[in-house]
Amino acid sequence: MPSEALDNRNGDSTMRSKILTDGNEQKITVNHIREMKKNKEKVAMVTAYDYFGALICDRAGVDGVLVGDSAAMVMLGYPNTAAIGMREMLVFCGAVTRAVKRALIIGDLPFGSYQCSVTDAVSNSVLFIKAGCNAVKIEGGTEVVPLIRSIIAAGIPVMGHIGFTPQTSPLWNNNRLHGKTEKSALKLLEQARELEEAGAFSIVLEMVTDEVATLISESLSIPTIGIGSGLNCDGQVLVSHDLLGLHQGAQFRFVKRYARLYETIFDAMSQYRKDVKEKKFPQDSNSFHMDKNELGKVLRKLEQQGNLRNE
Ligand code: KIV
Repeated sequence: MPSEALDNRNGDSTMRSKILTDGNEQKITVNHIREMKKNKEKVAMVTAYDYFGALICDRAGVDGVLVGDSAAMVMLGYPNTAAIGMREMLVFCGAVTRAVKRALIIGDLPFGSYQCSVTDAVSNSVLFIKAGCNAVKIEGGTEVVPLIRSIIAAGIPVMGHIGFTPQTSPLWNNNRLHGKTEKSALKLLEQARELEEAGAFSIVLEMVTDEVATLISESLSIPTIGIGSGLNCDGQVLVSHDLLGLHQGAQFRFVKRYARLYETIFDAMSQYRKDVKEKKFPQDSNSFHMDKNELGKVLRKLEQQGNLRNE
């Protein structure tokens, strides 16, 4: 069934029927992402970790899907990203790459997968590509430049990630926001230039002041992808669970909730439970019946055997 027909059957959203892809659209590459900056088109990226989540992101037309190590918290319940490893990341990548036809897929190198050696960095990047990703992301500044060069030398596009780097920043201090002082601003500008020179095709700026993110975005030819870094980055990325409202409680100021799925799912589950308890689900319309003659035969057999329960 064409996707338009599916959409119309489900209701009223013109958005949905407009953006849904039929799977024949051109695959987005890192070159397209670079071109978007030249064409002043903002890049829309989001995280995804599972098959259906990724399918919806792709059909909604996002440019890039990041299989982020935020999976540690939102998919596996770990307290931070440092806990997740390559084996788990590759399971999520497999699910996402089986779903996504159009968007660029970026695998996030988890903590421990690149810190110990260049060989680790390259061989783990290779595993992401074998799992179907189109690029990898690596956290860090000057210290990861040799790694970026080696991964790119192996033919794998790399995205940088500076500012707040969740794998290691919390080990040093509690500062989430970066670029508040002259020293911090100049350091970020220098790191961004180094990553661009090393060949990164774009850079995530996480929790960088609007002013510094703007200066970096203006000074680079590759796109900056902001998260909590103001209005002037060349694109944006959000953790899908945040934008979908899949968890309760306080949310970061930089997040915009586009749905309240926690409440929607909670209500659905509560209603299901209530229906089962009150015998309202299932109904006859949810059941399957056997042929009356066949049933008659069974009942006669049971009767002959003296096996009918109400005898
Ligand atoms: O893992 C992740 O979700 C990320 C984004 C927040 C950029 O790295």
